[in-house]
Amino acid sequence: MQQKNFWLPVLVFGLGLVLSTISCQHSPMGMDDDVEPIDTTGNDTTGMGDPCDPNVVYFEWDILPILRSNCALSGCHDDASHEDGVVLTSYEKVMQTADVDAFDPGSSDLYEKITDSDPDDRMPPPPNQPLSSEQVALIYKWIQQGAKNESCDPDAGQCNTDNVSYAQDIRPVIQNNCQGCHSGANPSGGISLDTHAGLAASANSGRLYGAISWQVGYVAMPLGASNPLPQCTVDKIKAWIDAGAPDN
Ligand code: HEC
Repeated sequence: MQQKNFWLPVLVFGLGLVLSTISCQHSPMGMDDDVEPIDTTGNDTTGMGDPCDPNVVYFEWDILPILRSNCALSGCHDDASHEDGVVLTSYEKVMQTADVDAFDPGSSDLYEKITDSDPDDRMPPPPNQPLSSEQVALIYKWIQQGAKNESCDPDAGQCNTDNVSYAQDIRPVIQNNCQGCHSGANPSGGISLDTHAGLAASANSGRLYGAISWQVGYVAMPLGASNPLPQCTVDKIKAWIDAGAPDN
């Protein structure tokens, strides 16, 4: 009788321990545990007004648009859905939830997920297209440079809108800011922007410029962005539209 009274609490405690270990094990991307503290030293707001350095990867201009249009979507990694606890809608949330190891892309889950060769594990998952090699390289470089949130002013300096080229100037902007939503079998709003023909159709209807210049009567694009594209980018797209949206 004495024996039984002694062992019962030990048993209950042991069982509780085992159960709690089991229930904590499921963390598919390992992103819930091991949360990185936010590196506020990388949060440089003094650079606003400085021109962008072409050798520096800027989270706001280079990385966030890719995440917003490919990952931070409803049902995936937006604030409401937060699949696997991962939210990719802002610098702070990316650093808190996506297991980014500054200076070390190889040990960052974010980088590992977008490069996984197994389609079952790769992000974004099929039927979505994987990120392009340019986008993957940009994310690699951003982490390698310390996964910082440097600021710069893309509109500092002159904006040259002469001879705007579809291939050089327009295509990369659309690819990083729009294509994640506006491509594939079910493009957002029924609008495909992943080919010249699709973009030209949108340009010629007036909707492209209305949407990117945030005019009343149009849905502001990129959807979910807190600011329009840099003014110089909008001006270049306008110049290209005015030139007849050529495939140059
Ligand atoms: C996060 C997803 C997402 C991103 C990123 C996005 N769009 Fe859209 N876009 C949508 C959705 C959804 C609609 C349909 C909105 C509606 O009809 O309410 C839409 C509609 C549009 C329209 C029609 C607007 C109108 O009022 O007729 C244009 C043009 C457009 N997008 C262009 C762009 C361009 C250019 C970019 C990049 C600079 C972009 N979109 C980025 C989701 C997105």
